[in-house]
This record gives sequence, structure tokens and C-alpha cells, in this order.
Amino acid sequence: MRTQVGIVGAGPAGLVLAHLLHLDGIDSVVLEARSREYVERRVRAGVLEQPTVELLRAAGVADRLDREGLVHHGISLRFDGSDHRIAFDELTGRSIAVYGQQEVVKDLIAARFVAGAPPLFDVSDVAVHDLTTESPRISFRTADGSHGELICDVIAGCDGFHGITRDAIPAGAATVYEHTYPFAWLGILAEAPPSHSELIYTYHERGFALHSMRSPRVTRLYLQVAPDEEIAAWPDERIWAELHLRLHADGFTLTEGAVLEKGITGMRSFVVEPMRYGRLFLAGDAAHIVPPTGAKGMNLAIADVRRLSAALAALLRERRTDLLDSYSDACLRRVWRAEHFSWWMTSMLHRFADADPFQQRLQLSQLRYTASSRPAATSLAENYVGLPWE
Ligand code: APR
Ligand code: PHB
Repeated sequence: MRTQVGIVGAGPAGLVLAHLLHLDGIDSVVLEARSREYVERRVRAGVLEQPTVELLRAAGVADRLDREGLVHHGISLRFDGSDHRIAFDELTGRSIAVYGQQEVVKDLIAARFVAGAPPLFDVSDVAVHDLTTESPRISFRTADGSHGELICDVIAGCDGFHGITRDAIPAGAATVYEHTYPFAWLGILAEAPPSHSELIYTYHERGFALHSMRSPRVTRLYLQVAPDEEIAAWPDERIWAELHLRLHADGFTLTEGAVLEKGITGMRSFVVEPMRYGRLFLAGDAAHIVPPTGAKGMNLAIADVRRLSAALAALLRERRTDLLDSYSDACLRRVWRAEHFSWWMTSMLHRFADADPFQQRLQLSQLRYTASSRPAATSLAENYVGLPWE
């Protein structure tokens, strides 16, 4: 089989890339290791920056997002027992949309079917070859076990952090920058109306907690836990008891409901440079990871493929390589801004087991300053709602 762009992974990066290429008249094939049901159900991130919303709208895949997404004009930082609102609209004139990543994925898979080029799901043994030639190849096994091969002009590695494309870059051809955090997040999805109209990021002596949502009937909640915590140690009653303790504030009542889903996610910062090897281009989590505190992961993935699709159009339609040659450097500028913002939010809001009282007072001082100084609040707000594309 021949295609112009072979895309490994049907997450937000791979699917948005396939769609943008299609709009540019460029054909691609998306290979996905999991089933369609699995990727459409997998609960992940839920915040879309304004630039992401605008991109999806311009690409014609935001009808349901515009109907069902929840537009938020601010968030609250909860500390010292009360809420301190960061008013995005007032500070930046911009807003965010709360809309689950798997809803974005569903909408984009539907668009692939409409285009007559659905992803190949349930593939296995995916491997990439001949990356430094002008005809790189992807070998794989299809769902029925037969051998497949895609000969491409370019390969896009959109296969997430645990994918195989990044590992195809030989040692010495890339540098990894990494940071791990001494905690994880335990997240639940609950069949309960949100207890507040906006997200609440809580700094508490027992650890960080986050109140988020997916719809007027479904709440998403997170608790900071130890990095090696087992989900079995957290029956629903223990999760609710801990959420009540950490989210306590005057005039606030946490509404409980049936727990629909729960899981533990590690926290890590990771960047590989450059995001390219020969004719292999990495995008999204395959190239970089941020801790979820800044809500940047899905947005960065989509920002990467916005650039990659334009660069691929220049190559495949005009035989120009300049945009592909600057792809990695241009992406990494936004990536590192998000890396810093996510690290900063994480450092300010979590309890570090080894922190002494001096460090804890610094955290509180930073929170109070961020909440009370207009320039400091604006800095948080402009990063959160998404900096304009460069
Ligand atoms: N072959 C084919 N597909 C693969 C392989 C493989 N060897 N390995 C992984 N995949 C698939 C995964 O099953 C997944 O569907 O690649 C996809 C990668 O998607 P994501 O992990 O969602 O990554 P990305 O598209 O970059 O989106 C980043 O995901 O993890 C969140 O917080 C992160 O919101 C951010 C977003
Ligand atoms: C979510 O709703 O899943 C969510 C929201 C904000 C974050 C992280 C996750 O910072």
C-alpha cells in the first residue's frame, strides 16, 4: 500500500493531522493499536484552549463541541479555605472549553469515516523503516493477523508516550529532557452534577485536589496521591472522604454520585529534541509529556500537528522543505513554554513530602500573589487559555 503520510496513532495528534491533511488534499493512513471502542472510551484530559477550539472550528469538526462543550471564563485557586478566582475573560479576553478528549477523538474518527479513510484499528507489530530515505515504510499486522506494509513520503509518529516511533530514533540522534514528580493523581468520573460552575485547583495540607467536570451531569475529580499508590487501596468511600477534607470551603458542598471510572496517573515532564529523525516527525505525547496540572497535553498535541500539516503541505504540494526543516524548533518553543507553565502550576499546588515549612510558606506566598496581583494572575490566565500561535 502507498500513501503520502503514514500516521502511527489515533489520538488527538494523529486524528487532527489526518483531518488537516485531508482538507489540504493530501492522503494519509492512520494505524492504531487499539480498537475503535477503546480509544473512544478512554477517559483522558478535558480542557481545550481557545486556539485549539478555533482550530477545530476552522477545520469543520467542532459542531458537537460548540453544542456540548462547556465554555468557562475562569478557574478558582482554593487555598486558605476560600476561592480566589482567576477571571480569564477579564484578564485576557479569552476563554476555554471543557470537552473530554475522547469526545474530540470520537468527532475526528467520525470525520475520517465521512472522508472515506477510516483509521486501521487493532493493528499490531508496528515498526518503522528506511527513515533516512525518501520512501520510509511502516510494517504492521492487521486485525486479522495478515502482514501489512505502507510505503510513505513521510511518517508521523503520533503514537503517544508509550509508542514505538520515538524509539526508532537512534541513540545519539536525539536528546531527552526529563523530570519526575514525587506524586501521582487519582482521578474519578462521577455521575453527579458539578458542585461548582468552574474548575477548582486546591492547595491543601493533605495534598492537591481538583474539581473538574465533563457535563452538567458528570463531575471529574482528582486527588494527589503517592507515586506508587495502588487503586485497590482506594475504595470509593475513602476517595469521597478525602475529597471532602481537601475541597472543604465555606459555602461549598461536594455532591457525590456513582463512580463511573477511576484510575491513577503518574506525573512526568519529558521532552525529546529534535522532534524529527530523517522523514519521521514526532507530534504530541510521542515527543513530550507535561504533568496534567496546566491542562496542556492535548492542546500541545494539536498545536504540533497544526504546524506539521502546513509543513507537509509545503513539501508534498510545492516540494518545499523549509517548513519541515523548522518544524521541530518552532514546535519546541511552544512546548517549552507549556513545560514551564505545567511545572510551575504543579510546583505551586502540590504538597511535596520532603518540603520543609519554609518551602510551604513560599508556596502559599506564591498562591496569594498570583491571586491578588493583576499581572501575576494575567500570566497564569494567558498561559492557561493558550498563547496565540506564533
Ligand atoms: N502502533 C499504533 N498505535 C499506537 C502504538 C503503536 N505501536 N502505540 C500507541 N499507539 C496509539 C495509542 O493507542 C493511542 O491511541 O497511539 C495513540 C496515541 O494517542 P495519545 O496517547 O492520546 O497521544 P496524542 O495523540 O499525542 O495526544 C496527547 O493524550 O495522554 C494524553 O494528556 C495527553 O491530552 C494529551 C493527549
Ligand atoms: C480534567 O477535567 O480532566 C482536567 C482538568 C484540568 C486539568 C487536568 C485535568 O488541569
